[in-house]
Amino acid sequence: MTKTIEDIKKLVEPDRIHRSLYSDPELFALEQERIFESTWVYMGHESQVKENGDYMTLNIGRKPVIMVRGRDGNINVLHNQCTHRGAKVAGKKCGNARAFRCCYHGWTFKTDGTLIGVPHKGGYEETHFDIKDPKFSLKVVRSQSYRGFIFANLSSKGADLKEFLGDAASSIDNMIERSPGGDLEITGGVLRYRHNCNWKFFVDNLNDTMHPMVTHQSVGDACQSYIDELPKDTPPTREMDIVAPFGSSYENFDMMGVSVGPKGHAFTGGTDSIHSNYMEVDGYIEAMHKSYGEEKTKEILCVNRHNTIYYPSLTIKGAIQSIRIIRPISVNETEIETWTFRLKGAPDDMLHRTMLYSRLINSPSSMVGSDDLEAYTRLSEGLMSGGSEWVDMSRFIGREERPDGNMTRAIGTSDISLRNQYAAWLGYMTDVPQQEEL
Ligand SMILES: [Fe+2]
Repeated sequence: MTKTIEDIKKLVEPDRIHRSLYSDPELFALEQERIFESTWVYMGHESQVKENGDYMTLNIGRKPVIMVRGRDGNINVLHNQCTHRGAKVAGKKCGNARAFRCCYHGWTFKTDGTLIGVPHKGGYEETHFDIKDPKFSLKVVRSQSYRGFIFANLSSKGADLKEFLGDAASSIDNMIERSPGGDLEITGGVLRYRHNCNWKFFVDNLNDTMHPMVTHQSVGDACQSYIDELPKDTPPTREMDIVAPFGSSYENFDMMGVSVGPKGHAFTGGTDSIHSNYMEVDGYIEAMHKSYGEEKTKEILCVNRHNTIYYPSLTIKGAIQSIRIIRPISVNETEIETWTFRLKGAPDDMLHRTMLYSRLINSPSSMVGSDDLEAYTRLSEGLMSGGSEWVDMSRFIGREERPDGNMTRAIGTSDISLRNQYAAWLGYMTDVPQQEEL
């Protein structure tokens, strides 16, 4: 590595960033080390490891880990590395295991990481090996749950998860409260795809409300002309509900507002967003009234946020009960996963609406997501030109902003979310004094 902290500081200014942030492999490697491997990264929801022994294999930055529910019912995150020669002890994406047995020499570990078996172990007499020595157990990663959302942090230092999420945690709260049973469950598999683009294009786009009127104009127009041509009195459909708001005006996006907080977290929307005018689902309001009463139901359903980003790894849509996870692979490859939630106690139609949304908007073959991908591809290619060294994010800087709890609220089409993310990026990338001294 040759970049110093001073070099990195020169790449981020209050209202613009250097184009190399999206293309420099050295910066990508530093992001893995100083951001993804040094802060809270989303692992999964507790409903994905329901039974004792259920596990998923994941990566935190470049490091393979296992999220597993142990025999005591607690969820652990463990390094997926045998303490013998270092092979991954869990090879599948997910499954159920009573123990993890390494495929190479058969060292076997309990689901809490403890080493319990070594074949032909007489040969280790009079060596430094001791099966009871914790250094031969799978190393445990610090992990915490916020209301069922499991995050892990390879650094043992720093804030706990609740403090890290700050006021932005209210988007998770609202998604849970939308459940008449007060609980969520991952249902319906995953949409997983790779972009040949830097991970930050996707994250930048989440709260970029100046692009839908251009990037998604053709979708908005096509949807509107389809609606206009329908015979009078045709009942509205869910597809119209979901797609039409992508043709909203600049003024509508201004009105939605955007809130940004510490650590790069942010959300667009408040009472208004692209989700606020959906038609009702039969039986849902009744179930909510039964659980919460009319007043509280109104309060819960008045919160209609668009995207919330828990920088850098998780983005959620509370009002539509779906989440997307960001997994950077290389400087120009990113895996995105979309997962959908069932609201416990809600009619099945609520889940069907969530899945319809994912197919229409977020899937790689959707009408809207593919527009965004075209923009990321053109950004990747255009930024290589070098006609300009800088990427602008100056819109509404210092204007139309007010404090809101531990967050700042701004007009919806402000670039404040981008500025906030890159301030967090710079904080992570330069907060390493010991490493610079080495
Ligand atoms: Fe978009």
